[in-house]
Amino acid sequence: MQIIKNIEEIQAVRKKMRGSVGFVPTMGALHQGHLTLIRKAREENDHVVVSIFVNPTQFLPGEDLDEYPRREEADRKICELAGVDILFMPATDAMYHRDEVTLKAPPYLGYILEGHRRPGHFDGVVQIVMKLFGLMQPTRAYFGRKDAQQLRILKKMAEDLFLPVEIVPVDTVREDDGLALSSRNVYLNPEERERALSISKSLKRASRLVMAGETDAEAIKLAMREIMRGIDVEYIAVVDRDFMPLEKVEIKNTLILVAAKVGKTRLIDNIWL
Ligand code: PAF
Repeated sequence: MQIIKNIEEIQAVRKKMRGSVGFVPTMGALHQGHLTLIRKAREENDHVVVSIFVNPTQFLPGEDLDEYPRREEADRKICELAGVDILFMPATDAMYHRDEVTLKAPPYLGYILEGHRRPGHFDGVVQIVMKLFGLMQPTRAYFGRKDAQQLRILKKMAEDLFLPVEIVPVDTVREDDGLALSSRNVYLNPEERERALSISKSLKRASRLVMAGETDAEAIKLAMREIMRGIDVEYIAVVDRDFMPLEKVEIKNTLILVAAKVGKTRLIDNIWL
């Protein structure tokens, strides 16, 4: 595995690559969820590139940019074992310039739910992912379904800007007890982790209700809220695949999304129905 930190070097290496390139952009602190993305990229492409870059522009003032887990050594080993060809780890000032061209997330999709709670977050995401796509020119790029809104926005970015990249969604990986894997789970103490389980439990309950014939979004949200009463729920949303609110669940076109704070840790999760 080649580890590259320098922009000119990654450009030169990319120029020489022949065949398909599968790209997995990450912010590091890699876990089983990232491994699933990497494995899929490995199966489907001639080359696999992983980037690790804790992108400052997608953190709002007061968020966890400084505390965000950084595990360079462990991440390298994971990538090596997973058969990654190139690990790209640029420095912050190599990726950003003074007075630069900036992208905006879509006015609706970028500013509802996560974008409403974290205004400007998705502007930072599209800015960095566009830069990384510019450098890597991937055939396919892999993103987790856990960040459903990010996934939808990046797919839209590729469509709107006519980018020759396939955005590949990958299912959420969960612990045995249901907790969705996230780099931020390390912030949870054992008691908080226990309470955080109510998020996935509430989504499971929603899924069971729908299977039993319930379609009313308000009734589903109420049942979910009851299960999550021990944590600070920021939102529960029932939306279609374009993130338009739904009053009634539509099978194969519904997403139920949750954001909640457990202690100081903000967690998101969802199910696709
Ligand atoms: O999902 C993430 O880890 C980040 O938002 C991404 C896509 C790597 C952009 O910084």
